[in-house]
Amino acid sequence: MLLRRPTLLFLQCRERPEFRLDDLLGGGSGVVRRDEWLALAPHLESEVVLEDSDVAVFSAVTPGQARSHAELSAEFGWERIDRLVAAGLLIGDHAGHADLRERERALGEVDWWGPAALAQIFGRWQGVDVAADPPRLGGERWQELMATQGAPPSETVELRPRSSWQSLPTATASAFDQLLQARTTCRNFAPGALPLQDLATVLHRVFGAQAAQTLAPQAVALKKNSPSGGGLHPIEAFVLAQRVEGLPPGLYHYQCVAHALEPMQGLDAEALAPMASELVAGQVWFADAPVLVLMAARFQRNFWKYCRHAKAWRVVQLDAGHLSQNFQLAATELGLGAFVTAAINDACAERLFELDGLSTGAIAVCGLGRRAADTTTIEFDPLGKAVR
Ligand SMILES: Cc1cc2nc3c(=O)[nH]c(=O)nc-3n(C[C@H](O)[C@H](O)[C@H](O)COP(=O)(O)O)c2cc1C
Repeated sequence: MLLRRPTLLFLQCRERPEFRLDDLLGGGSGVVRRDEWLALAPHLESEVVLEDSDVAVFSAVTPGQARSHAELSAEFGWERIDRLVAAGLLIGDHAGHADLRERERALGEVDWWGPAALAQIFGRWQGVDVAADPPRLGGERWQELMATQGAPPSETVELRPRSSWQSLPTATASAFDQLLQARTTCRNFAPGALPLQDLATVLHRVFGAQAAQTLAPQAVALKKNSPSGGGLHPIEAFVLAQRVEGLPPGLYHYQCVAHALEPMQGLDAEALAPMASELVAGQVWFADAPVLVLMAARFQRNFWKYCRHAKAWRVVQLDAGHLSQNFQLAATELGLGAFVTAAINDACAERLFELDGLSTGAIAVCGLGRRAADTTTIEFDPLGKAVR
């Protein structure tokens, strides 16, 4: 068997507290701090704890030049080599590593900047349910957080004395202010169905191509209603439609130039409900929205221009932010409630919408529908402008 090192491999040194009885009996606290090395490789989905001296193996074998199992075993011991092969940190040419080789190839093809690949893949969630694991959502209410975290950093910063500040004229109120102020994250959806016209309007305004221009043979730039790094618009909209008048429930892909929904799987409401819940990691206040829209990035569309670029992944995340604000404004303008969440089970998104997670990966989920008359789950509407 021939073995090589993965192309992208990061090592992290982490301090780990360990309980030691001998330390306690010897008069110590019983807690001994020990360093451990972790291997973080984006072709794997989780970190691997290394043993002392494993790191030396990675210096002895490169991604481009494979060495034989026998040769490496003679140098480092077969137990160590077999363990690193089993962990996927040494990639073999045998059948058992076919999937790993394929993931590595896909990673290389997408021109990832290494740390971004790590952030995208290690930030994935699988099977997270925030009801069972509330801290995953990022803590509890502010009052509860204060008990453990103390006060948050102040809401504004003052860099120079107030006496030096230049005051500004009051902004002239317009209908745009009304729209902006009415936008409030909706966590209480009414049970009814959404008119297809409303869904179509939001999709077109947010994700739809307003124009298409051929810049060179096979190079088409789309004009959309939000800015996009490099003008590449790599984010696709995938629709989980639970209750839309005149649209069979199911999973769809939005065709942004044709302004059409491409059916991926027809499913009844009973089958869709648990999928919606899993997608938004058990956030019940979002799962029952009539429509969820997954924003998933075709990374290579952006990386084609920003090849292995340190800013490229950030740009893709920013694109999603612009889209989500437009999504909420477009819904608000129709008198609907909307939200965005990044607390999603990426693995579920990939399964539902046939994404490989490497060339096309989930970023966030938006949702929309009519607001319920009553607020059961907390919303933040101090201006009282949300339309119910
Ligand atoms: C990127 C992003 C992720 C968010 N994720 C969640 C989430 O997982 N769950 C949730 O209930 N709200 C989520 N929110 C909504 C925020 O909690 C909300 O925007 C914030 O409290 C301010 O309220 P407002 O949107 O009504 O002004 C998210 C917002 C953003 C921008």
